[in-house]
Amino acid sequence: MTELKGLRDDVYRRPLATAFDRLGLAPGWRCVDVGAGGGDVSVAMAEVVGHSGRVYAVDSDPHARDEVARAAAAHSQVIAITQAGEDLMLPEPVDLAFCRFLLLHVLDPAIVLRRMARSVRPGGWVVAQEPITSAGRVGGIELSMPDARHPDIGALLPALARDAGLSIVDAWAEAPAGVAPGPVSDYLAELTGVDPGDDPIVLPPLVTIVGRTEPRG
Ligand SMILES: C[S@@+](CC[C@H](N)C(=O)[O-])C[C@H]1O[C@@H](n2cnc3c(N)ncnc32)[C@H](O)[C@@H]1O
Repeated sequence: MTELKGLRDDVYRRPLATAFDRLGLAPGWRCVDVGAGGGDVSVAMAEVVGHSGRVYAVDSDPHARDEVARAAAAHSQVIAITQAGEDLMLPEPVDLAFCRFLLLHVLDPAIVLRRMARSVRPGGWVVAQEPITSAGRVGGIELSMPDARHPDIGALLPALARDAGLSIVDAWAEAPAGVAPGPVSDYLAELTGVDPGDDPIVLPPLVTIVGRTEPRG
């Protein structure tokens, strides 16, 4: 199992490690992390791809660039770029285009996924990890995320990936679960500002799709 060091939001580290393992992410890979936010995924990737690899950390919010620069200070292979996923354009084709908790927020997830597919070399990989928010439960009650445009986008991911021209190599869902006290209840309290008390929690499952672009003819 890939050991992910230094991942701050560690309740969702297992789906990330599972994806890296299934891909065989290795030193030297060139990657893009679209919607990089604070850079947790970018740093985790950088630790695996090493200094012979490269990680483009792309986010439409200019503040993310500073956050990534801080989080990845020890990883010169991470290059932070301010760019919308809809306009994704990189200096070179990459082996892996990755996003997590991004497509639920964008206007048209299909456009972003297609741009990600176009940023990858022939035979390269596109991986998306997105939630089914309403499948999460606190005390048996459904979770919701009113601020997200597509809170249940995870349920549509396999079809979106197919429509983006990707071959789906693997797809699955994983959800962190727990009861207070512990990291799952702390995460939920931080995310929502609501203390879940002693209620049992199943966080929104993340659906992962591992897609592949056509190898060159
Ligand atoms: C919930 S955060 C996820 C951060 C990170 N991927 C993670 O899993 O920890 C979503 C990020 O997507 C960025 N974002 C939203 N819409 C975007 C777009 N159209 N193109 C690029 N980034 C976008 C936001 O600025 C934010 O940093």
